[in-house]
Amino acid sequence: MLKKLIVDLGERSYPIFIADGALASPELWQDCLVKRGKVVIVTNETVQKWYLEPLKNALKSIGVDALSCILPDGEQYKDLQHFNDILTFLLENSAGRDSTIFALGGGVIGDMSGFAAACYQRGIDFIQVPTTLLSYVDSSVGGKTAVNHPLGKNMIGAFYQPKAVIIDLNTLKTLPEREIAAGMAEVIKYGIIWDPEFFQYLEDNSDKIWAQDLETLSHVVYRCCEIKAEVVHQDETEGGLRAILNLGHTFGHAIETFMGYGVWLHGEGVAAGMVMAARLALKRGNISAADFERIRALIAKNRLPVSRPESMPGEAFLKLMIHDKKNRQGHINYIIPDSLGHVSLYRDVTDAEALEAVG
Ligand code: NAD
Ligand code: GLY
Repeated sequence: MLKKLIVDLGERSYPIFIADGALASPELWQDCLVKRGKVVIVTNETVQKWYLEPLKNALKSIGVDALSCILPDGEQYKDLQHFNDILTFLLENSAGRDSTIFALGGGVIGDMSGFAAACYQRGIDFIQVPTTLLSYVDSSVGGKTAVNHPLGKNMIGAFYQPKAVIIDLNTLKTLPEREIAAGMAEVIKYGIIWDPEFFQYLEDNSDKIWAQDLETLSHVVYRCCEIKAEVVHQDETEGGLRAILNLGHTFGHAIETFMGYGVWLHGEGVAAGMVMAARLALKRGNISAADFERIRALIAKNRLPVSRPESMPGEAFLKLMIHDKKNRQGHINYIIPDSLGHVSLYRDVTDAEALEAVG
Protein backbone atom coordinates (compact mmCIF):
# COMPACT_ATOMS: atom_id res chain seq x y z
CA MET A 1 0.00 0.00 0.00
CA LEU A 2 1.98 2.98 -1.32
CA LYS A 3 0.91 6.57 -0.77
CA LYS A 4 2.83 9.41 -2.36
CA LEU A 5 2.53 13.16 -2.10
CA ILE A 6 4.61 16.11 -3.22
CA VAL A 7 5.83 19.00 -1.11
CA ASP A 8 5.29 21.76 -3.65
CA LEU A 9 8.14 24.27 -3.36
CA GLY A 10 8.93 25.09 -6.98
CA GLU A 11 12.41 23.93 -7.87
CA ARG A 12 12.87 22.60 -4.31
CA SER A 13 9.79 20.33 -4.56
CA TYR A 14 10.16 16.73 -3.43
CA PRO A 15 8.14 13.55 -2.96
CA ILE A 16 7.14 11.80 0.25
CA PHE A 17 6.72 8.03 -0.11
CA ILE A 18 4.66 6.26 2.55
CA ALA A 19 4.57 2.46 2.52
CA ASP A 20 5.28 -0.57 4.63
CA GLY A 21 8.62 -1.81 3.32
CA ALA A 22 9.52 1.50 1.59
CA LEU A 23 13.07 1.51 2.95
CA ALA A 24 13.93 -1.76 1.21
CA SER A 25 12.10 -0.86 -2.04
CA PRO A 26 14.54 1.30 -3.98
CA GLU A 27 12.35 1.09 -7.09
CA LEU A 28 10.09 3.61 -5.30
CA TRP A 29 12.71 6.24 -4.62
CA GLN A 30 15.86 5.59 -6.67
CA ASP A 31 14.96 8.37 -9.14
CA CYS A 32 15.49 10.87 -6.29
CA LEU A 33 19.12 9.80 -5.95
CA VAL A 34 20.39 11.85 -8.87
CA LYS A 35 24.00 12.61 -7.90
CA ARG A 36 26.65 10.02 -8.69
CA GLY A 37 29.05 10.75 -5.82
CA LYS A 38 29.44 9.12 -2.41
CA VAL A 39 26.37 8.07 -0.47
CA VAL A 40 26.64 8.36 3.31
CA ILE A 41 24.01 6.95 5.64
CA VAL A 42 23.97 8.91 8.91
CA THR A 43 22.27 6.99 11.70
CA ASN A 44 22.70 6.17 15.38
CA GLU A 45 23.76 3.19 17.47
CA THR A 46 20.16 2.13 18.15
CA VAL A 47 18.58 2.50 14.71
CA GLN A 48 21.51 0.89 12.92
CA LYS A 49 20.77 -2.46 14.63
CA TRP A 50 17.55 -2.89 12.62
CA TYR A 51 17.60 -0.63 9.60
CA LEU A 52 21.16 0.05 8.44
CA GLU A 53 21.67 -3.28 6.67
CA PRO A 54 18.28 -3.21 4.90
CA LEU A 55 18.97 0.30 3.61
CA LYS A 56 22.55 -0.57 2.63
CA ASN A 57 21.28 -3.67 0.81
CA ALA A 58 18.59 -1.69 -0.96
CA LEU A 59 21.25 0.76 -2.14
CA LYS A 60 23.56 -2.10 -3.12
CA SER A 61 20.79 -3.57 -5.26
CA ILE A 62 20.85 -0.39 -7.36
CA GLY A 63 24.64 -0.37 -7.56
CA VAL A 64 25.43 2.01 -4.68
CA ASP A 65 27.97 1.14 -1.96
CA ALA A 66 27.01 3.38 0.93
CA LEU A 67 29.28 4.45 3.78
CA SER A 68 27.84 4.68 7.29
CA CYS A 69 28.42 7.36 9.89
CA ILE A 70 27.10 6.16 13.23
CA LEU A 71 26.46 8.63 16.03
CA PRO A 72 25.56 8.10 19.68
CA ASP A 73 21.83 8.01 20.41
CA GLY A 74 20.13 10.88 22.17
CA GLU A 75 18.88 14.46 22.08
CA GLN A 76 21.87 15.43 24.26
CA TYR A 77 24.13 14.64 21.28
CA LYS A 78 22.22 16.94 18.90
CA ASP A 79 24.92 19.53 19.28
CA LEU A 80 27.69 21.29 17.39
CA GLN A 81 30.24 18.66 18.39
CA HIS A 82 28.34 15.79 16.77
CA PHE A 83 27.33 17.96 13.83
CA ASN A 84 31.08 18.49 13.37
CA ASP A 85 31.64 14.72 13.60
CA ILE A 86 29.43 14.29 10.51
CA LEU A 87 31.43 16.93 8.63
CA THR A 88 34.70 15.27 9.68
CA PHE A 89 33.39 11.90 8.47
CA LEU A 90 32.52 13.43 5.10
CA LEU A 91 35.95 15.07 4.80
CA GLU A 92 37.88 11.97 5.92
CA ASN A 93 36.02 9.97 3.28
CA SER A 94 36.68 12.58 0.57
CA ALA A 95 32.99 13.19 -0.02
CA GLY A 96 32.53 15.73 -2.82
CA ARG A 97 29.75 18.16 -3.65
CA ASP A 98 28.04 15.36 -5.58
CA SER A 99 27.56 13.30 -2.39
CA THR A 100 24.20 12.44 -0.85
CA ILE A 101 23.36 11.91 2.82
CA PHE A 102 20.62 9.49 3.85
CA ALA A 103 19.38 10.53 7.31
CA LEU A 104 18.22 7.23 8.83
CA GLY A 105 16.59 7.74 12.22
CA GLY A 106 14.28 9.97 14.21
CA GLY A 107 14.18 13.75 14.37
CA VAL A 108 17.56 14.04 16.07
CA ILE A 109 19.37 12.31 13.22
CA GLY A 110 17.19 14.05 10.62
CA ASP A 111 17.76 17.54 12.01
CA MET A 112 21.49 17.09 12.53
CA SER A 113 22.21 15.35 9.19
CA GLY A 114 20.07 17.86 7.34
CA PHE A 115 22.06 20.71 8.86
CA ALA A 116 25.32 18.95 7.95
CA ALA A 117 24.03 18.52 4.37
CA ALA A 118 23.14 22.23 4.27
CA CYS A 119 26.63 23.28 5.38
CA TYR A 120 28.98 20.73 3.84
CA GLN A 121 30.68 22.37 0.88
CA ARG A 122 27.79 24.90 0.87
CA GLY A 123 25.16 22.22 0.42
CA ILE A 124 24.85 18.60 -0.70
CA ASP A 125 21.77 16.45 -1.35
CA PHE A 126 20.05 14.65 1.48
CA ILE A 127 17.20 12.20 1.76
CA GLN A 128 15.17 11.74 4.91
CA VAL A 129 14.44 8.17 6.03
CA PRO A 130 12.50 8.81 9.25
CA THR A 131 12.04 5.90 11.65
CA THR A 132 9.89 7.39 14.44
CA LEU A 133 6.24 8.44 14.29
CA LEU A 134 7.26 11.99 15.20
CA SER A 135 9.77 12.16 12.38
CA TYR A 136 7.31 10.65 9.85
CA VAL A 137 4.72 13.33 10.47
CA ASP A 138 6.80 16.36 11.35
CA SER A 139 10.57 16.63 11.44
CA SER A 140 11.37 14.90 8.12
CA VAL A 141 9.08 17.21 6.16
CA GLY A 142 9.58 20.92 5.59
CA GLY A 143 13.32 21.47 5.69
CA LYS A 144 13.93 22.73 9.22
CA THR A 145 17.38 21.49 10.24
CA ALA A 146 19.23 22.37 13.42
CA VAL A 147 21.31 21.48 16.44
CA ASN A 148 20.82 22.59 20.03
CA HIS A 149 22.88 25.15 21.96
CA PRO A 150 23.20 24.96 25.76
CA LEU A 151 21.21 28.21 25.87
CA GLY A 152 18.34 27.02 23.71
CA LYS A 153 16.92 24.24 21.59
CA ASN A 154 17.39 24.24 17.81
CA MET A 155 19.11 27.62 18.00
CA ILE A 156 21.72 26.85 15.32
CA GLY A 157 20.32 25.70 11.99
CA ALA A 158 19.08 26.34 8.48
CA PHE A 159 16.08 25.86 6.24
CA TYR A 160 17.25 23.18 3.83
CA GLN A 161 14.88 20.85 2.00
CA PRO A 162 15.57 17.15 1.42
CA LYS A 163 15.34 15.60 -2.06
CA ALA A 164 12.86 12.98 -0.84
CA VAL A 165 11.27 11.54 2.29
CA ILE A 166 10.99 7.76 2.54
CA ILE A 167 8.56 6.67 5.26
CA ASP A 168 8.60 2.95 5.98
CA LEU A 169 5.67 2.22 8.30
CA ASN A 170 7.31 -1.06 9.34
CA THR A 171 9.93 0.83 11.33
CA LEU A 172 7.32 1.56 14.01
CA LYS A 173 7.36 -2.12 14.98
CA THR A 174 10.58 -1.65 16.96
CA LEU A 175 9.75 1.80 18.33
CA PRO A 176 9.21 1.92 22.13
CA GLU A 177 5.71 2.84 23.33
CA ARG A 178 6.90 6.10 24.90
CA GLU A 179 8.23 7.23 21.49
CA ILE A 180 4.94 6.32 19.77
CA ALA A 181 3.16 8.49 22.31
CA ALA A 182 5.60 11.35 21.64
CA GLY A 183 4.76 11.09 17.93
CA MET A 184 1.05 11.13 18.73
CA ALA A 185 1.49 14.58 20.25
CA GLU A 186 2.45 15.97 16.83
CA VAL A 187 -0.32 13.95 15.15
CA ILE A 188 -2.93 15.44 17.50
CA LYS A 189 -1.44 18.89 16.86
CA TYR A 190 -2.59 18.74 13.21
CA GLY A 191 -6.17 18.19 14.31
CA ILE A 192 -6.07 21.17 16.67
CA ILE A 193 -4.38 23.61 14.29
CA TRP A 194 -6.01 22.67 10.98
CA ASP A 195 -8.59 19.93 10.77
CA PRO A 196 -11.36 19.36 13.35
CA GLU A 197 -12.59 16.30 11.40
CA PHE A 198 -9.16 14.75 11.68
CA PHE A 199 -9.24 15.50 15.43
CA GLN A 200 -12.53 13.60 15.65
CA TYR A 201 -11.02 10.78 13.54
CA LEU A 202 -8.21 10.51 16.10
CA GLU A 203 -10.71 10.43 18.97
CA ASP A 204 -12.40 7.51 17.24
CA ASN A 205 -9.32 5.65 15.97
CA SER A 206 -6.41 6.15 18.37
CA ASP A 207 -6.71 2.54 19.48
CA LYS A 208 -6.14 1.32 15.91
CA ILE A 209 -3.01 3.45 15.67
CA TRP A 210 -1.71 1.89 18.86
CA ALA A 211 -2.51 -1.55 17.43
CA GLN A 212 -0.46 -0.49 14.36
CA ASP A 213 -3.31 -1.17 11.97
CA LEU A 214 -1.59 -0.40 8.67
CA GLU A 215 -4.53 1.20 6.93
CA THR A 216 -5.20 3.58 9.83
CA LEU A 217 -1.53 4.35 10.26
CA SER A 218 -1.07 5.03 6.58
CA HIS A 219 -4.10 7.36 6.52
CA VAL A 220 -2.94 9.24 9.62
CA VAL A 221 0.66 9.67 8.44
CA TYR A 222 -0.52 10.76 4.98
CA ARG A 223 -2.98 13.33 6.36
CA CYS A 224 -0.36 14.81 8.72
CA CYS A 225 2.21 15.06 5.92
CA GLU A 226 -0.44 16.57 3.64
CA ILE A 227 -1.26 19.30 6.16
CA LYS A 228 2.40 20.00 6.86
CA ALA A 229 3.17 20.10 3.12
CA GLU A 230 0.37 22.63 2.59
CA VAL A 231 1.56 24.87 5.42
CA VAL A 232 5.19 24.71 4.22
CA HIS A 233 4.06 25.35 0.63
CA GLN A 234 2.35 28.54 1.79
CA ASP A 235 5.18 29.68 4.09
CA GLU A 236 8.46 27.82 3.71
CA THR A 237 10.62 29.95 6.00
CA GLU A 238 8.11 30.85 8.71
CA GLY A 239 7.35 34.41 7.75
CA GLY A 240 3.88 33.90 9.23
CA LEU A 241 1.58 30.89 8.81
CA ARG A 242 4.19 28.20 9.50
CA ALA A 243 4.40 29.36 13.12
CA ILE A 244 1.09 27.52 13.72
CA LEU A 245 3.07 24.26 13.58
CA ASN A 246 4.59 25.38 16.86
CA LEU A 247 1.42 24.92 18.88
CA GLY A 248 2.53 23.80 22.34
CA HIS A 249 6.19 24.18 21.45
CA THR A 250 6.82 27.45 23.30
CA PHE A 251 5.88 25.81 26.60
CA GLY A 252 7.29 22.45 25.49
CA HIS A 253 10.74 23.74 24.58
CA ALA A 254 10.92 25.46 27.98
CA ILE A 255 10.20 22.11 29.66
CA GLU A 256 12.82 20.32 27.54
CA THR A 257 15.46 22.93 28.31
CA PHE A 258 14.64 23.12 32.04
CA MET A 259 14.67 19.35 32.52
CA GLY A 260 17.86 18.86 30.46
CA TYR A 261 17.75 17.65 26.86
CA GLY A 262 16.46 14.10 26.59
CA VAL A 263 14.77 13.88 30.02
CA TRP A 264 11.36 14.89 28.71
CA LEU A 265 10.89 13.84 25.09
CA HIS A 266 10.12 16.59 22.57
CA GLY A 267 6.63 15.18 21.98
CA GLU A 268 5.95 15.00 25.72
CA GLY A 269 6.83 18.68 26.12
CA VAL A 270 4.61 19.53 23.14
CA ALA A 271 1.75 17.50 24.64
CA ALA A 272 1.82 19.31 27.98
CA GLY A 273 2.42 22.58 26.09
CA MET A 274 -0.70 22.06 23.94
CA VAL A 275 -2.79 21.64 27.08
CA MET A 276 -1.31 24.91 28.40
CA ALA A 277 -2.09 26.70 25.11
CA ALA A 278 -5.61 25.26 25.20
CA ARG A 279 -6.01 26.53 28.79
CA LEU A 280 -5.00 30.00 27.60
CA ALA A 281 -7.64 29.69 24.87
CA LEU A 282 -10.22 28.60 27.43
CA LYS A 283 -9.44 31.52 29.76
CA ARG A 284 -9.74 33.93 26.83
CA GLY A 285 -13.10 32.49 25.84
CA ASN A 286 -11.82 31.18 22.48
CA ILE A 287 -12.85 27.61 23.15
CA SER A 288 -15.51 26.03 25.35
CA ALA A 289 -14.80 23.99 28.47
CA ALA A 290 -16.02 20.97 26.48
CA ASP A 291 -13.47 21.53 23.70
CA PHE A 292 -10.70 22.09 26.26
CA GLU A 293 -11.62 18.76 27.81
CA ARG A 294 -11.63 17.03 24.39
CA ILE A 295 -8.07 18.28 23.78
CA ARG A 296 -6.87 17.27 27.25
CA ALA A 297 -8.58 13.89 27.06
CA LEU A 298 -7.22 12.95 23.60
CA ILE A 299 -3.70 13.83 24.73
CA ALA A 300 -4.09 11.84 27.97
CA LYS A 301 -5.64 8.90 26.10
CA ASN A 302 -2.50 8.74 24.00
CA ARG A 303 -0.37 8.19 27.10
CA LEU A 304 1.06 11.71 27.19
CA PRO A 305 1.58 14.21 30.03
CA VAL A 306 -1.05 16.92 30.40
CA SER A 307 0.68 19.04 33.07
CA ARG A 308 4.10 20.49 33.80
CA PRO A 309 6.87 18.53 35.51
CA GLU A 310 6.47 18.72 39.29
CA SER A 311 10.01 20.08 39.70
CA MET A 312 9.47 23.00 37.29
CA PRO A 313 8.07 26.20 38.82
CA GLY A 314 5.83 28.43 36.69
CA GLU A 315 8.39 31.28 36.74
CA ALA A 316 10.94 29.03 35.03
CA PHE A 317 8.69 28.95 31.94
CA LEU A 318 8.78 32.73 31.60
CA LYS A 319 12.57 32.84 31.93
CA LEU A 320 13.09 30.19 29.27
CA MET A 321 10.34 31.20 26.85
CA ILE A 322 12.01 34.57 26.33
CA HIS A 323 14.50 32.71 24.04
CA ASP A 324 11.72 31.35 21.77
CA LYS A 325 12.36 31.93 18.06
CA LYS A 326 8.85 33.32 17.51
CA ASN A 327 9.54 36.23 19.86
CA ARG A 328 9.86 39.78 18.59
CA GLN A 329 11.03 42.91 20.48
CA GLY A 330 11.38 40.98 23.72
CA HIS A 331 7.71 39.83 23.74
CA ILE A 332 6.84 36.17 24.10
CA ASN A 333 4.50 35.17 21.27
CA TYR A 334 2.08 32.29 21.73
CA ILE A 335 0.17 30.07 19.32
CA ILE A 336 -3.29 29.61 20.81
CA PRO A 337 -6.46 27.94 19.50
CA ASP A 338 -9.16 30.37 18.26
CA SER A 339 -11.41 27.33 18.01
CA LEU A 340 -10.83 23.58 17.88
CA GLY A 341 -9.28 23.26 14.38
CA HIS A 342 -7.82 26.75 14.02
CA VAL A 343 -5.02 28.62 15.81
CA SER A 344 -3.38 32.07 15.64
CA LEU A 345 -0.30 33.83 16.95
CA TYR A 346 -1.06 36.06 19.95
CA ARG A 347 1.32 38.86 20.93
CA ASP A 348 -0.62 40.26 23.87
CA VAL A 349 -0.49 37.45 26.42
CA THR A 350 0.55 38.80 29.83
CA ASP A 351 2.97 36.97 32.09
CA ALA A 352 0.13 36.54 34.61
CA GLU A 353 -2.00 34.78 31.97
CA ALA A 354 0.91 32.55 30.95
CA LEU A 355 1.56 31.63 34.58
CA GLU A 356 -2.10 30.71 35.00
CA ALA A 357 -1.94 28.58 31.83
CA VAL A 358 1.02 26.51 32.98
CA GLY A 359 -1.12 25.50 35.96
P1 NAD B 1 14.80 10.72 18.33
O1 NAD B 1 15.37 11.02 17.04
O2 NAD B 1 15.63 10.96 19.54
O3 NAD B 1 14.30 9.22 18.36
C1 NAD B 1 13.72 8.72 19.52
C2 NAD B 1 14.39 7.44 20.03
O4 NAD B 1 13.93 6.36 19.24
C3 NAD B 1 15.89 7.42 19.92
O5 NAD B 1 16.41 6.72 21.00
C4 NAD B 1 16.12 6.67 18.62
O6 NAD B 1 17.38 6.06 18.56
C5 NAD B 1 15.04 5.65 18.70
N1 NAD B 1 14.56 5.13 17.44
C6 NAD B 1 14.39 5.79 16.28
N2 NAD B 1 13.76 5.02 15.41
C7 NAD B 1 13.56 3.83 16.00
C8 NAD B 1 12.92 2.64 15.61
N3 NAD B 1 12.32 2.53 14.44
N4 NAD B 1 12.89 1.61 16.48
C9 NAD B 1 13.43 1.74 17.71
N5 NAD B 1 14.01 2.86 18.16
C10 NAD B 1 14.08 3.90 17.30
O7 NAD B 1 13.44 11.55 18.59
P2 NAD B 1 12.23 12.00 17.64
O8 NAD B 1 11.07 12.08 18.52
O9 NAD B 1 12.16 11.21 16.41
O10 NAD B 1 12.65 13.47 17.21
C11 NAD B 1 12.81 14.49 18.15
C12 NAD B 1 13.70 15.55 17.57
O11 NAD B 1 13.08 16.07 16.39
C13 NAD B 1 13.94 16.72 18.48
O12 NAD B 1 15.30 17.03 18.44
C14 NAD B 1 13.11 17.84 17.86
O13 NAD B 1 13.67 19.10 18.11
C15 NAD B 1 13.17 17.49 16.43
N6 NAD B 1 12.05 18.01 15.65
C16 NAD B 1 12.33 18.66 14.50
C17 NAD B 1 11.32 19.13 13.71
C18 NAD B 1 11.62 19.80 12.40
O14 NAD B 1 10.71 20.34 11.78
N7 NAD B 1 12.83 19.73 11.93
C19 NAD B 1 9.98 18.93 14.09
C20 NAD B 1 9.73 18.24 15.26
C21 NAD B 1 10.77 17.79 16.04
N1 GLY C 1 7.98 21.54 13.45
C1 GLY C 1 7.67 22.89 13.11
C2 GLY C 1 7.98 23.25 11.71
O1 GLY C 1 8.40 22.44 10.93
O2 GLY C 1 7.81 24.39 11.35
